[in-house]
Amino acid sequence: MPTKLRAAITGVHGWVPETKLTNSDLEKIVDTNDEWIVSRTGIKDRRILRTPNWATSDMCAEAVKGLLEKTGVKPGEIDMIIVATVTGDMVFPDTANTVCDKIGAKNAFGYDINAACSGFLFALATGAQFVQNETYKKVIVVGADMMSSIIDYQDRNTCIIFGDGAGAVLLEAKKDGTGIIDFVLRGDGSGRELLNMKAGGSLHPATAETVANREHYAWQDGKRVYVQAVKGMTSACEEVIRRNKMTIEDVQWVVPHQANMRIITSVAEHLHFPMEKVMLNIEKYGNTTAATLPLCLWEYEKKLSKGDNIILTAFGGGFTWGALYLKWAY
Ligand code: COA
Repeated sequence: MPTKLRAAITGVHGWVPETKLTNSDLEKIVDTNDEWIVSRTGIKDRRILRTPNWATSDMCAEAVKGLLEKTGVKPGEIDMIIVATVTGDMVFPDTANTVCDKIGAKNAFGYDINAACSGFLFALATGAQFVQNETYKKVIVVGADMMSSIIDYQDRNTCIIFGDGAGAVLLEAKKDGTGIIDFVLRGDGSGRELLNMKAGGSLHPATAETVANREHYAWQDGKRVYVQAVKGMTSACEEVIRRNKMTIEDVQWVVPHQANMRIITSVAEHLHFPMEKVMLNIEKYGNTTAATLPLCLWEYEKKLSKGDNIILTAFGGGFTWGALYLKWAY
């Protein structure tokens, strides 16, 4: 019986900067300590981009170049690149076009998606449509953020959490039952009050005052975001599992956004899912925003088998959240 054509991840690659920002480094900058950070967040290190004149597009380009090398795809074969990020190189133009230029993807077009920590999930669902509808053959989806460019290293509520990195996947059509099967994407714009960067947009363009008020940095009401993150990721996972007539036992891996180890543990407990099957990189990279999910897939790639049922889930600024169900293709 012919199987439905689906968009499948046929390759994944990641890139993180070499420079580490450890908990002991942070102890010297703000009033915090390793014990507090590890016990409250699970984070030990983060990577920080320090290469002069490098920005988010350069991290994307490194991840994509590695992906092309691995998959044997030439830059000219790429149809489209979507970059999920909240730290694009410039307000405009978008970073995806810059990435196309930097890697020599002459036949590709691209655009950015801003859904904060859910960005990769939203971009993956978007990219999958173009492949599934047979509009394009090779679509690359990148999740990348240079959070160090918008973090206030005087604010201990945020600076301990975030790091920099990029992960990229290649989407191609498959007819063997593997690929992206379903997703639940949600939003609640009232959440903008609790997690945001206030200035630099059309609401509060940059002035000497916005700079003096430190409004060009990411800000959050951590406690309230935490509660919504657990609720949002749990309910989205439950919904996608239920409507695909699965039980949690049918799932081989859960790939959660890496914002706080306690959030991840709590979601796994609510789902009755074993932590050994939850992908983690928070301890060494912190919260890399749109990059957490593809970086997890990249690092766990060798442990995956064709046909594995995988659920990706995220929660982020907006608020935005969701869960995506796929069958691993290789
Ligand atoms: N080091 C030491 N102490 C700190 C600290 C730090 N870095 N940050 C906060 N504290 C203190 C607080 O001042 C507070 O002290 P008090 O009780 O004397 O007032 C105490 O620790 C507890 O603070 P609280 O804010 O309640 O901590 P928390 O357990 O909620 O952890 C976050 C804070 C930010 C780590 C947590 O709320 C979180 O991870 N939230 C969600 C983040 C998130 O997902 N953001 C990205 C979007 S996806």
